[in-house]
Amino acid sequence: MYNFNIDPGTPKAELYAELLKAADALTDGEADGIANMANIASLLWQFLPDLNWAGFYRMVDEELVLGPFQGKAACIRIPTGKGVCGTAAQSGKTQRIDDVHDFPGHIACDADSRSELVVPVKSYGQVIAVIDLDSPKPARFDAEDAAGVEALAELLSNRL
Ligand code: SME
Repeated sequence: MYNFNIDPGTPKAELYAELLKAADALTDGEADGIANMANIASLLWQFLPDLNWAGFYRMVDEELVLGPFQGKAACIRIPTGKGVCGTAAQSGKTQRIDDVHDFPGHIACDADSRSELVVPVKSYGQVIAVIDLDSPKPARFDAEDAAGVEALAELLSNRL
């Protein structure tokens, strides 16, 4: 049994340090990327407050395909360059969107989503997946969230 306890009042920097430690412990030495993504989606969901979706899209034949996640059923395929996820995949850069209604081409999988953070996971310079977090709160994600999830993406670069 894995039991990662996290106090909801934990400061963000500490929260992400704990999340990273838990992610490392869960994925270290495990070669199955699906299992690793499933456990990380679960950790994100458990550790980070105010989310309505947390999970992965994987780069398969030049398009993003839904991977393990927590939240409501979501769009299955996203062309590279489309929406927030496709923009992160194409640019290789983190997308932090305070209000998705202002993002041209945003793909609304869940009408409740208001802000979004998408971080690419790269291996040898290529985007192999993106980590997608959605929140019903506008401007839920700040620079500290982006840095925390980028550290996680770095850890996962050879574990998916
Ligand atoms: N909103 C995303 C699509 C994925 S869902 O949020 C799970 C986008 O615009 O890429």
